[in-house]
Amino acid sequence: MAGKIYRISGALVVAKGLEGVQMNEVVRVGEERLVGEVIRISGKSAFIQVYEDTSGLMVGEPVERTGQPLAVELGPGLLTQAFDGIQRPLDQIRAKVGDFVKRGVDVPALPRDKRWKFTPTVKVGDKVKPGAIIGTVPETKSIVHKVMVPPNIVPNYEEELTVEDIREGEFTVWETVAVLKDSKGKTYEVALAHRWPVRVARPNREKLLPTVPLITGMRILDFLFPIALGGNAAIPGGFGTGKTVTEQSLAKHSLVDIVIYIGCGERGNEMTEVIVEFPELVDPKTGGPLMDRTILVVNTSNMPVAAREASIYTGITLAEYYRDMGYNVLLLADSTSRWAEALREMSSRLEEMPGEEGYPTYLASKLAAFYERTGRVVALSGEIGSVTAVGAVSPPGGDFSEPVVQSTLRVVGGFWALDTSLARARHYPAINWNISYTLYYNLIRDWFEQNVAEDWSDLRVWMTDVLQKDKDLQEIVQLLGPDALQDDQRVLLETSRIIKNAFLQQNAFHEIDASSPPKKTYLIAKVIRDFYDLAASYTKEGVLDPRVIPSLPEVEDIIRLKELTLEDVEKKIPQILANLKSRFESFRKEAA
Ligand SMILES: Nc1ncnc2c1ncn2[C@@H]1O[C@H](COP(=O)(O)OP(=O)(O)OP(=O)(O)O)[C@@H](O)[C@H]1O
Ligand SMILES: [Mg+2]
Repeated sequence: MAGKIYRISGALVVAKGLEGVQMNEVVRVGEERLVGEVIRISGKSAFIQVYEDTSGLMVGEPVERTGQPLAVELGPGLLTQAFDGIQRPLDQIRAKVGDFVKRGVDVPALPRDKRWKFTPTVKVGDKVKPGAIIGTVPETKSIVHKVMVPPNIVPNYEEELTVEDIREGEFTVWETVAVLKDSKGKTYEVALAHRWPVRVARPNREKLLPTVPLITGMRILDFLFPIALGGNAAIPGGFGTGKTVTEQSLAKHSLVDIVIYIGCGERGNEMTEVIVEFPELVDPKTGGPLMDRTILVVNTSNMPVAAREASIYTGITLAEYYRDMGYNVLLLADSTSRWAEALREMSSRLEEMPGEEGYPTYLASKLAAFYERTGRVVALSGEIGSVTAVGAVSPPGGDFSEPVVQSTLRVVGGFWALDTSLARARHYPAINWNISYTLYYNLIRDWFEQNVAEDWSDLRVWMTDVLQKDKDLQEIVQLLGPDALQDDQRVLLETSRIIKNAFLQQNAFHEIDASSPPKKTYLIAKVIRDFYDLAASYTKEGVLDPRVIPSLPEVEDIIRLKELTLEDVEKKIPQILANLKSRFESFRKEAA
């Protein structure tokens, strides 16, 4: 029996008469059958958040139950696509209704006509459990899709099912490829695709300690503030400080298998840029299109706020799905502040008691629940995969004491703070090394020491120490002027300047500098330390006047190393050090 619209307040519709309706059930609202989700039930009233523009909707129009929770379709054909917050393919909605997203359109997430070549990995008589992999499909040039028994096929993940039938060949996503039977003789048909409710985390067998780093190719992140695969981090930053550039660099260069990019833009054209630019990006790993291993979930500012609210759940569910196949997935959200604002708007329409700055009191727990869905796990399939999440936060006025930043930093393990004054000075990435941090270092340091260089951690401590001393010395200079410094302090300040120019600054738009492999990152850090040791000792001997350091050609050479490939860096460094020594020796002769 259909209910009726009783009240309309922006994206919130109150309906009466929806008997038996469940929390989080999807309903179709009005004559145009707009997609909505029940977010509160109170007496006979169902409060519905509507994912489409509600203008023109009238009190008294019908509301229909679907009996289904808000869910996504999971199967081959997800990669390369751009979806809206409730997984409607953007190009197809466009093709159907012209240039803007029209209301009430039903477009399936996965193409219905496409046939996929399915190769079974199990045979008749085999026992499989929910979540088990039963075959593969080549989804794109770079990614093999593993077809899994839906984890929710039976309520108990440990139940064994027997393969009654398994078919090889070409299938569309909802054709049956396998038939399973439980111990009571009940049979279940399995297709290439299945559905999963977005607000429920997909189950796994075991959460593993995150001991493998996410290699980002950004020197400051990989060296000073690395996070683990399966970890999470926030990128807070004021207007124009580089959140989007950083997120997009991570999308392009991180060593992961799959990227899910959730765009919640405030400016409409920012997201159009994403939709236009991503398909043109080249995957540095394969030379093919980056979209072959990417899914976009995009909300433009002209889409209703509720769709934004749903988009992060849609995104993380897609991420968990590929994790379950044994892939390392990176989920990027730009920006979670836009998501929190959607939450705030719905909360205020629900007339809930507002918390800090009007955000609902459950903001922190919702953020925590989202980031808790990250992790490195043994999936039900037995494969090891991970979901790492990095969320940009855009606090008004760049003020980090605001509720979204504060609630986020309580739950994330990495904090990469963008700084307005660094951005203004065009020091990019404008990541403030004094306040950024990582909680993962002790778990992943072994990896760096075993896979890159034994003295990775020593060097990291050294650099952190120089940057800390630099901060203290800068204060002295501010107070007393540069003449108050002693020579050894000057060497330290000059070294710190080299660290900033040669190492911390990295141009996201430079062909080579855009991504720095860990070995190159290490070598540049190391040559700066070697420089420091030499300069300090010649200064101590009275041979070197630290004031000439900025004009040394070798210093310029060090600063230019980042524009060279790893191979060239390896060749160049011994030359630089040799030149430096002979230059210092020539100073000695001059002094004598
Ligand atoms: N790593 C980088 N290398 C080179 N340029 C950069 C880098 N990071 C940021 N920039 C410069 O800063 C500009 C603004 O960056 P971006 O658009 O990412 O900021 P934002 O924080 O996302 O801004 P908004 O608040 O508008 O979303 C870029 O257009 C670019 O010129
Ligand atoms: Mg941005």
